[in-house]
Amino acid sequence: MSQEGILLDPTPAGECKTGTGTGSSRRRVGLVVTGALGAALVALYAGAAPFLAPALRKVCLPFVPATAAQVENVLAALRRRSGPLVDIGSGDGRIVIAAAKRGFQASGFELNPWLVWFSRYKAWREGVHASTSFHMCDLWKVSFAQYSNVVIFGVPQMMQHLELKLERELPSAAKVVACRFPFPTWVPEHTAGEGIDTVWVYDAGTFKSRLREETKGTPEQEDTIQSHT
Ligand SMILES: C[S@@+](CC[C@H](N)C(=O)[O-])C[C@H]1O[C@@H](n2cnc3c(N)ncnc32)[C@H](O)[C@@H]1O
Repeated sequence: MSQEGILLDPTPAGECKTGTGTGSSRRRVGLVVTGALGAALVALYAGAAPFLAPALRKVCLPFVPATAAQVENVLAALRRRSGPLVDIGSGDGRIVIAAAKRGFQASGFELNPWLVWFSRYKAWREGVHASTSFHMCDLWKVSFAQYSNVVIFGVPQMMQHLELKLERELPSAAKVVACRFPFPTWVPEHTAGEGIDTVWVYDAGTFKSRLREETKGTPEQEDTIQSHT
């Protein structure tokens, strides 16, 4: 470069000075932004999908946590009970953890993996890790036969099918507590709480003997349960 050229050129030695250099750094920034955006979208999808997925199922059972009063009503309904307890669709684990603190060996079954991991973490943090367990699975694909205390905070659309499933699976000594929405044909022993915090308590011995009288386990019942899995 001539003496004049050096004087007119403001770019320090060693730096890119042309439009090509600016363009390549813009491209790099563009790639980084696109990559970051893509990663953010994937993370958003991975985080949100398990919460949105219930809406796509035949029966939509979204995550709606029990209120503090509801949890207390469940515990009051199961006072003086012992034996293993299950919360069907355990959400963030609040009922399982509260039950474990009252001495139950308590389990939760939950479809959403984030909620299962969060529940396990919460149980560990609250010191009831040893008396709780959380299973990541579909409530329609497991048996609840081993539980003598069953809690469900469901939605009206699923209660009839769940009735059939529990009638078939539970031992006669079991009690079932339904939160917010009662079972359609079972007759509750008693209720606790009021308004949206109401819980209904059912005795398995009663509903199982009624089932034996009325239906004798028809093949149609099996079909109804299968259609929800
Ligand atoms: C109304 S919330 C109740 C949460 C918890 N039991 C409570 O009372 O705080 C219902 C839960 O069931 C879960 N769920 C929905 N469909 C399910 C399925 N097929 N199997 C297992 N869990 C399911 C949802 O992810 C949600 O966390």
